[in-house]
Amino acid sequence: MLDASAKQRFGALPAHIAIIMDGNGRWAQSRGLPRIAGHREGAEAVRRAVEGCREMGVSYLTLFAFSSENWKRPASEVDDLMGLLRLYLRREINELARNGVRLKIIGDRSRLSNDITDLINQGEERTRHNSGLTLTIAISYGAQAEIVQAVRRIAAAHKRGEIELEEIDERLFSGYLYTSELPDPDLLIRTSGEQRLSNFMLWQAAYAELLFMDVFWPDFDKNCLQWAIDQFGARERRYGATTSA
Ligand code: FPP
Repeated sequence: MLDASAKQRFGALPAHIAIIMDGNGRWAQSRGLPRIAGHREGAEAVRRAVEGCREMGVSYLTLFAFSSENWKRPASEVDDLMGLLRLYLRREINELARNGVRLKIIGDRSRLSNDITDLINQGEERTRHNSGLTLTIAISYGAQAEIVQAVRRIAAAHKRGEIELEEIDERLFSGYLYTSELPDPDLLIRTSGEQRLSNFMLWQAAYAELLFMDVFWPDFDKNCLQWAIDQFGARERRYGATTSA
């Protein structure tokens, strides 16, 4: 059996897994429970996914926790989700710090409450020097808005004479995204059977392997993660080139 570093060398282990955690509401509904119960179980699945990625030697895990469109949900559900994120940031930060996890939050922070932004800043600061798994949580995140803010900042820098038009290429552009310090995801998973990207990492997922799993997010466990990694290992990535002979 290959160990984690050998698997990563041979390309069988994705260095960066991104997940659209979908199906919390349906999980709850199928059990006659309120939606918040699904989100609570979803937070447990987040813990399992982080632990699984650490154990399997994945270097980057990015989770879509709250989209810019999720603000349109009923106020009570938005409050519940924000409450869960607050709780997660308060309770898990010690554990993450102890386990060498580096935490990063991406998204539009201007819409978050001050206490949540404080928790985010503290969490990022405390784990900044960790060199284990990089856990990125997307909150109030939308890929199109992320791209637009990058365009605006590049245009402003050009106007100030700091960037020549000819300098603007894919690499420079990537540096203006929230994910500037992350490699692009190798594997992008969406749970719950839906087959959409829903405005998640549209630029970064250009060459990601997409995997749509028929499991509601609260049921996602280490076996699901292992299965996803095995599926990834069985695929041939060509990046637009031809099949190797
Ligand atoms: C999608 O399910 C899930 C969300 C909108 C929220 C994801 C949040 C969590 C997993 C819990 C908190 C996160 C962290 C990082 C602690 P849905 O509600 O759209 O499900 P449905 O499509 O079945 O209605």
